[in-house]
Amino acid sequence: MKPKVYSTYSVPEHVKEFMATYCDIREWQGDGRITRDVLLKEITDVEGLYTAGSSMVGVIDDELLNHAPLLKVISNVSVGYNNFDVEAMNKRNIIGTNTPYVLDETVADLAFALILSTARRITELDQFVKEGSWKPTTNYHETYGLDVHGTTLGIIGMGRIGEAIARRAKFGFNMDVLYFNRNRKPEAEDKYGAEYCDLTSLLTRADYIVLMTPLTPETFQIIGEEEFKLMKKSAIFINVSRGQTVDEQALIHALQNGEIYGAGLDVFEKEPVDQDNPLLQMSNVVTVPHIGSATARTEAAMAMRAAENLVAVLTGKEPIDPVGK
Ligand code: DGY
Repeated sequence: MKPKVYSTYSVPEHVKEFMATYCDIREWQGDGRITRDVLLKEITDVEGLYTAGSSMVGVIDDELLNHAPLLKVISNVSVGYNNFDVEAMNKRNIIGTNTPYVLDETVADLAFALILSTARRITELDQFVKEGSWKPTTNYHETYGLDVHGTTLGIIGMGRIGEAIARRAKFGFNMDVLYFNRNRKPEAEDKYGAEYCDLTSLLTRADYIVLMTPLTPETFQIIGEEEFKLMKKSAIFINVSRGQTVDEQALIHALQNGEIYGAGLDVFEKEPVDQDNPLLQMSNVVTVPHIGSATARTEAAMAMRAAENLVAVLTGKEPIDPVGK
């Protein structure tokens, strides 16, 4: 009998075909995203769980794992794995996996899309044109934004995605690159002329600040009131990591009080973001619904990579991308 696997997503056909050789897969079929109550029932007989770091079920913790006595592997279709309670998984010898590499360039593209659209006020001015506000009498000063080329970019979290952002900054936009990271990255310094600095120095010097760190207890709200106060009034803050790496109330306060120029946000403290969140009322804030890796090609590659990780564990092999040990 093949091992049973539950997926909190509808799995792409090409991936399902591959997985079907090795396991019996059931998928969440309901409208919208799966709830925790449903997952609690569905994982009782499975050896593999196929899910993602941004899923709505919250953290896969003791309570969920107590309902899954057969579980051997949790495979995330995402690079972030802040949905894993690593300690609870390790206690039970459950292997966690993620999907690095295949999404690096796509997420870096989005970081740059947010930099450019915030700096040049693209979404705001798109609206301006479409609502008919562009008149022969329009004063062009009103449409001015900020330059990106030749400025200074600060990257917080110089992993693979951080490096992909640094490459774009250095070679595409002739920017100086500063970075703050747990460890120094000599290769990033050599390739992109990136300068390692402490967080205070990065925040005070950078024109654009991209938060790209994974969410961990150490990075929880790494950017808050004090950090926003250090930034230039002309700084643009971009978050493509997780909403909880920022104190969102402090961000709102900084924007409302002109402490920074604007923000580009892929992620929020609560997702989907509440409609009455003040960030959604601000013309200098560009928002997207957590789409860092959301292109058809990259999502397909991530889905396959996650399936390969899951099948590896279920067939007694080492996964390609183990995390959290
Ligand atoms: C991830 O894979 O963790 C990213 O959030 C995708 O956008």
